[in-house]
Amino acid sequence: MNWEADAQQAADWIQQARSVVVLTGAGVSAESGVPTFRGARGLWRSVDPMSMATPDAFLSDPRGCWAWYRWRQRLVQECAPNDGHRALAELQDLIPSFLLVTQNVDGLHVAAGSRDVVELHGNLFADRCTRCDFVVDSWGETLPNIMPDDPGADPEPPSCPTCGSLLRPGVVWFGESLPEGVMERAAAAAKDADVLLVVGTSGVVYPAAGMAAIAAEGGARVVIVNPNEAAQDGIADLCVRGPSARVLPLLVP
Ligand code: OAD
Ligand code: ZN
Repeated sequence: MNWEADAQQAADWIQQARSVVVLTGAGVSAESGVPTFRGARGLWRSVDPMSMATPDAFLSDPRGCWAWYRWRQRLVQECAPNDGHRALAELQDLIPSFLLVTQNVDGLHVAAGSRDVVELHGNLFADRCTRCDFVVDSWGETLPNIMPDDPGADPEPPSCPTCGSLLRPGVVWFGESLPEGVMERAAAAAKDADVLLVVGTSGVVYPAAGMAAIAAEGGARVVIVNPNEAAQDGIADLCVRGPSARVLPLLVP
């Protein structure tokens, strides 16, 4: 375990930087108990994303799809931010220009105190109408029970209180565009950054994964924090191979 020395190098770069951009993925929440997507116990091991995380999958079985998202919402409601989330929240006030971009939909960065988080893939708790512009924040809510095998389960998927159409989870599905403007903002910040810190992502889902190359081309130092290999290791200036809840606190002065 020699990542402490690498973390020190990363800390030096970050503390000298004028502009730092952070891109996080599921790994930053792993130590909070939120499952990742692609690891040995990842969500995409037991569920095929094409049968659950696409607009067609939702339309062909809204209730089955909602049951899975309700399960994820409830799971995340039981989780709390970890020291990695908290370290990033501290950094936002210590670096002259700082932007946190996340692929995560769990809301744990905001729960840890990060402000102005760019959520590339939406938010698990921003249920929205498939027809009108109704959105509800279900973060602190007692969520209606729609698990098919639970007694007393609601047999209907949730519907819009305004227009009666189906509600859908507020996340981005495969084949959908990202929320308007988010990737443009993330890419512009990466281009101008002195350091891009890429934490807990396998780096295979685009356009998010493209931030490392954009930052490197713009002259940033690219630092990856991940206990395992990731797709962008080859263009990184430094890979800190430790768990983020232990590495990130070492980066705060
Ligand atoms: P993945 O599940 O693909 O990757 C998680 C990464 O976290 C892996 O590289 C692990 O090695 C790493 N990891 C695990 N434990 C860690 C720890 N304690 N500290 C640091 N890293 C750790 O998740 P993402 O890369 O976030 O998209 O996946 C990207 C997107 O694919 C997700 O946003 C989701 C998914 O399909 C959508 O749903 C649109
Ligand atoms: Zn509606």
